[in-house]
Amino acid sequence: MSNMKGKTLVITGATKGIGQAIAEKFAQQGVNIAFTYNSNGETAAILAQEWESKYGVKARAYPLNILEPDEFKPLFEAIDADFDRVDFFVSNAMIYGRPVVGGYGKFMRLKPRGLNNIYTATVNAFVVGTQEAAKRMEKVGGGAVVTMSSTGNLIYIENYAGHGTNKAAVEAMARYAAVELGEMNIRVNAVSGGPIDTDALKAFTNYEEVKAETIKRSALNRMGSPDDIAGAVYFLCTEEAGWITGQTIIVDGGTTFR
Ligand SMILES: NC(=O)c1ccc[n+]([C@@H]2O[C@H](COP(=O)([O-])OP(=O)(O)OC[C@H]3O[C@@H](n4cnc5c(N)ncnc54)[C@H](OP(=O)(O)O)[C@@H]3O)[C@@H](O)[C@H]2O)c1
Repeated sequence: MSNMKGKTLVITGATKGIGQAIAEKFAQQGVNIAFTYNSNGETAAILAQEWESKYGVKARAYPLNILEPDEFKPLFEAIDADFDRVDFFVSNAMIYGRPVVGGYGKFMRLKPRGLNNIYTATVNAFVVGTQEAAKRMEKVGGGAVVTMSSTGNLIYIENYAGHGTNKAAVEAMARYAAVELGEMNIRVNAVSGGPIDTDALKAFTNYEEVKAETIKRSALNRMGSPDDIAGAVYFLCTEEAGWITGQTIIVDGGTTFR
């Protein structure tokens, strides 16, 4: 089994949901955690303390708005001051609420501003975050990057055109990054989740319907949890996944095929 102890994970949006589960999974294995928050600074501070005392790792929270790609450079400089290395980067955070107006909705209601915001939060955030992380990974002989994606780029999900198309784009961008970062021994992959019970899903106008349909469609007869995603992201960062790069792993409880 890989020895992950003493390595460092940088992850965006780990105050709740999938990001929180991923960060905790790595912390359990002795990985130090540099994570970002946007509106939930207090929760972030509590989580950092909790992970430090429970798992004996170093955990620090930093503010970041993924709609402002220029914030990534100073973010990584702040991380440099607290951590001696970066081994893993997970691009996870996602916008919701007002910034997605015109991006989350039916096709005839889509608007350039909302769509552009989702592009910035999905593709630009992955690109600039990975660029900064890669410079640090190169110094320690390599690393692994994972971007979160969603099966809404493979199957129709009501109101999800803006997100679904940008998840398709980020998966393609991850493949391009994988080819070019391979020479630095950096692997780049995506994890594409089916519907997972988080606040982001609860924000769907038809949440109850999506939940019932997911359970019905799943070969496993249940909804997906953040821990289901965390396991796949963790695996992709271990040595056991050492020859996996430029791939998307679908974690959907069998819902997509049905
Ligand atoms: N839930 C699903 O069904 C599902 C399925 C497949 C893929 N995914 C993907 O998985 C990832 C995580 O989703 P989730 O369901 O766990 O979401 P979530 O529970 O809503 O968490 C979103 C995270 O993003 C942060 N965030 C929000 N706005 C931000 C901004 N402007 N700048 C920086 N960070 C911001 C939040 O920080 P604060 O709390 O501090 O504001 C929070 O930590 C996303 O990429 C999503 O597309 C989700």
